[in-house]
Amino acid sequence: MCGIVGYIGAKQAQQILLEGLSKLEYRGYDSAGLAIYNGEVIQIEKTKGRLKDLADRLSVSELTGHIGIGHTRWATHGKPSDQNAHPHTDPETRFAVVHNGIIENYMELREELTAKGYHFVSETDTEVIAKLLADVDDGDLVSTVQKAVSHLTGAFALGVINQAEPDKLVAVRFASPLVVGVGKGENFIASDIPAILKYTRDVYVLEDGEMAVLTEDQVHLMKTDGTPVKRKTMRVTWDMETAEKGGYDHFMLKEIHEQPQAIRDTLSGRLKDGLVDLSGEISLLPQEIFQIDRIQIVACGTAYHAGLIGKYVFEKFTRLPVEVEIASEYRYRNPIITDRTLVIVISQSGETADTLAALREAQKSGAKVLAITNVVGSSVAREANEVITTWAGPEIAVASTKAYTTQLIALYLLATYFAQVLGTKDENECREVVKSLQQLPVQVEKTFDCETEIKELASKIADHEHLFYLGRGLDHAVALEGSLKMKELSYIHSEAYAAGELKHGPLALIEEGIPVISLATQESIFEKMISNIQEVKARGAYVVGIAKEDNTELQKTVDQVIYIPPIIDLLVPVLTVVPLQLLSYYTCLERGFDVDKPRNLAKSVTVE
Ligand code: AGP
Repeated sequence: MCGIVGYIGAKQAQQILLEGLSKLEYRGYDSAGLAIYNGEVIQIEKTKGRLKDLADRLSVSELTGHIGIGHTRWATHGKPSDQNAHPHTDPETRFAVVHNGIIENYMELREELTAKGYHFVSETDTEVIAKLLADVDDGDLVSTVQKAVSHLTGAFALGVINQAEPDKLVAVRFASPLVVGVGKGENFIASDIPAILKYTRDVYVLEDGEMAVLTEDQVHLMKTDGTPVKRKTMRVTWDMETAEKGGYDHFMLKEIHEQPQAIRDTLSGRLKDGLVDLSGEISLLPQEIFQIDRIQIVACGTAYHAGLIGKYVFEKFTRLPVEVEIASEYRYRNPIITDRTLVIVISQSGETADTLAALREAQKSGAKVLAITNVVGSSVAREANEVITTWAGPEIAVASTKAYTTQLIALYLLATYFAQVLGTKDENECREVVKSLQQLPVQVEKTFDCETEIKELASKIADHEHLFYLGRGLDHAVALEGSLKMKELSYIHSEAYAAGELKHGPLALIEEGIPVISLATQESIFEKMISNIQEVKARGAYVVGIAKEDNTELQKTVDQVIYIPPIIDLLVPVLTVVPLQLLSYYTCLERGFDVDKPRNLAKSVTVE
């Protein structure tokens, strides 16, 4: 997620913008820049790297002026570089724009503008907005922005200044957060409240499809069609730390709740006419995809658990054999790889040493490597032959949540795309999957309804030192992820087992009162799961079932059921993982441990 700050008022803008951006640094970024109008022209200073690098440049050539916009970039389209950093401008620098989000139709707009003679200097989707503003400029900043925005599809929060009307700063919000800070003789815009908390606690939170026109002493809200909007300002009572977490107590809880938007963003620009379209990202030609005779998915930790779901999906959709491997094992096992092997590496950080080593091992043996990663420009992203980026935005909490669910989305998209190319699934089946993928953000939002129940369950299990998670098929893969979350957050010893395997030994561990979380969402093996649940119930376990809300059977067998909204079986993991993430979060709180920074763990394991 990028960071946006804007200022208009009596003070010099540069320091206010820099300080505001520094309050957004926690969000993660790879480049930064400012645009300030100095009374004659819009001056731009931007750089790859940190805010300190930008400040160093500004210490040599300060930008003076009372109106400006600033940006910290989290790369989505185009690697981290000076040219790709924001703000972006039109050729005459009449407009400067900063953007957070994804313009889905930027390629077609870029082609149209190129045909009109515009020359692009960056790889970003944002630069298209700057050229579009110049192209539709009718001499009035507000209506020019409205015209430009009407051409955009996707998610965008924008800050725009214009040399011809330097007394106005225009902000637009569509699916990416943006707030307006109301000061005395000065006004602000920001992606997030921490950036302006030092100057004002009175804010307007823009809603989708709204825009704001700021002058030094006024703020006008309207819809992007010009319809005026009347609303009172919100008084922010948060302290700075709470504000950085968006009002949540911890980054992990914020990131759990960001999953609907992260899924929406990861889907955006990758669905076309009801099917998956990765042609703009995957350079593999159809004949190269036909050449693949096996897939190996290699990762660590939570990313490995995402890979386990990927195995089911790819084998179901392509009938290609898929092996899922722990990177630290794979890299030393002299794996069997040919030039017909596709190796998929999954890594949120893109810097995990074992996963990077596995990538290099695979390439050395002639395999093509496709990376699924959350960090554009990371080592894994740079070295892989193909990259699918999860647009989850920076994940701050050590325990991975939104990265996992967006990795699943990337795997569903890829497997469906392969099935479309290979013809291993008929088009209607692919359309059904796409329709269900598009339902996920709303369905994930609905899973949060169980949060109170989960909180109560956490208080029940927090005193136990042993826990079991059971599941079959996809539910087993999710059980592994739920168990890892519980281990790394609450430090409770937790085992996840394939339910059918319990009687081959681990059943001996089941004793009176032990909590057993049993996932039973897969209709085709539901009866088998009931039998396994009865095995542990008979030995005194306290069984918490997880099932789809239309299931009325499970409650007859278990002590408590957590229900998830309906979705096709294949996509259920995206929903069932949410109560498990919440359970580990609230159990950790019950036990008084550090949610965002669990003991002994690092966010990115860059060493062996
Ligand atoms: C997940 O909650 C853990 N923090 C950890 O297992 C993590 O998933 C693993 O280290 C892999 O990290 P990566 O996705 O950045 O490669």
